[in-house]
Amino acid sequence: MKKITILGSTGSIGTQTLDVIASNIELFKVEHLVAGNNADLLIEQALKFKPKSVAINNLHIDKVKSNLDGTGIDVFDETKIDMIASDNVDLVVGAITGSSGLSPVYNAIKSGNDIALANKESLVCAGDMIMKLANKHKVKIIPIDSEHSAIFQVYSKQQKSGLEKIILTASGGAFVDKDINFIKTAKLQDALKHPNWSMGQKVTIDSAGLMNKGLEVIEACYLFDVKVKDVDVVIHRQSIIHSMVSMKDGSTLAQMGYPDMKTPIAYALSYPKRIYSGVNTLNFYEMNNLTFEKPDLKKFPALQLCKNSMEDGNGKPTILNASNELAVEQFIKGNILFGNISEIVESMLSIINSKTPNDLQEFNELHNETITKTKEYVKSINIGNS
Ligand SMILES: NC(=O)c1ccc[n+]([C@@H]2O[C@H](COP(=O)([O-])OP(=O)(O)OC[C@H]3O[C@@H](n4cnc5c(N)ncnc54)[C@H](OP(=O)(O)O)[C@@H]3O)[C@@H](O)[C@H]2O)c1
Repeated sequence: MKKITILGSTGSIGTQTLDVIASNIELFKVEHLVAGNNADLLIEQALKFKPKSVAINNLHIDKVKSNLDGTGIDVFDETKIDMIASDNVDLVVGAITGSSGLSPVYNAIKSGNDIALANKESLVCAGDMIMKLANKHKVKIIPIDSEHSAIFQVYSKQQKSGLEKIILTASGGAFVDKDINFIKTAKLQDALKHPNWSMGQKVTIDSAGLMNKGLEVIEACYLFDVKVKDVDVVIHRQSIIHSMVSMKDGSTLAQMGYPDMKTPIAYALSYPKRIYSGVNTLNFYEMNNLTFEKPDLKKFPALQLCKNSMEDGNGKPTILNASNELAVEQFIKGNILFGNISEIVESMLSIINSKTPNDLQEFNELHNETITKTKEYVKSINIGNS
């Protein structure tokens, strides 16, 4: 039985991971569950999967403790998440959103735990650090992000000399057919209308501006040890092809399936084997229209910002990630418009000088500096003028 820890068990990826585990309960033992604020769901999950321990924000600890009293399950607050992530298991699923996911993933790797990674932001904000540490501790990082899972399934680094391009597909997000003025002034309810995927708020908003695809370009560079110029993005509205590699011999290899995260989650859990995920295989007789388009960089400047920041290096992806996180948070609160998100990120990239962080302390310094400067910048924005 594989022992599994889930960081972010109450989120979209976390709950789907537990669904896949429930369908294959003879193969997996849930060791630890980590949540943020959803105490009711964490309690329900703990009673069902009986982990050794759970962790939740201190605000909810009394409620969780009283509901799990007598079960033998240890209940911790957020200060113990790194400790939980460090406990030796077969696989840690990294599914906390944003840079909050970095420290537990970092500590899990340091303990030699293999990682199933959904939390792309930890690679974006600290990819050099994470990949070095993973190499040092001989830890496998198995992607959950559907595009990277697709590449992971059809390509290995041993084929690098024959690689022409990695091609990441993108549904296009909520604004694919909207004009630039609509996008600039769009509000939260517009950005949350993702055409194909049901996901957490942050990744859905990132998808609407192709920021998510840009973050995925950076993620691909780290995971597959390639340069930005080796990664193309193509809009594929149907989300049936999850990504592709083109090889020098003229072959293009794609991984396909219905847009359901349970497929890449199942693969990450069972790698290198295959298990039941609950997702049907494709019915090709139903598919007579797979389309491919170039992304519009004028409408979606975030994609180019991500590419530029990865090419520049020197801590720029850390700045991009931190300023984007804060901008998305402000957008959710209604304090800024959609178009402000990429403007804010662009400004922060141009004003903050940095170098690549080598450890968590250097990362925190650059991250916190960016958050402080982004907050100041957000205050100066007049929402009516955007
Ligand atoms: N959803 C998808 O289909 C999808 C696809 C590809 C990649 N991803 C990536 O996977 C990650 C998770 O996405 P998601 O859609 O599952 O997000 P989500 O639904 O918002 O879930 C986030 C999870 O992280 C927990 N969390 C947030 N902040 C935390 C903190 N400071 N400490 C502890 N736990 C914390 C949340 O807990 P509470 O809910 O209890 O507060 C929740 O369990 C993201 O990096 C995203 O980009 C997601």
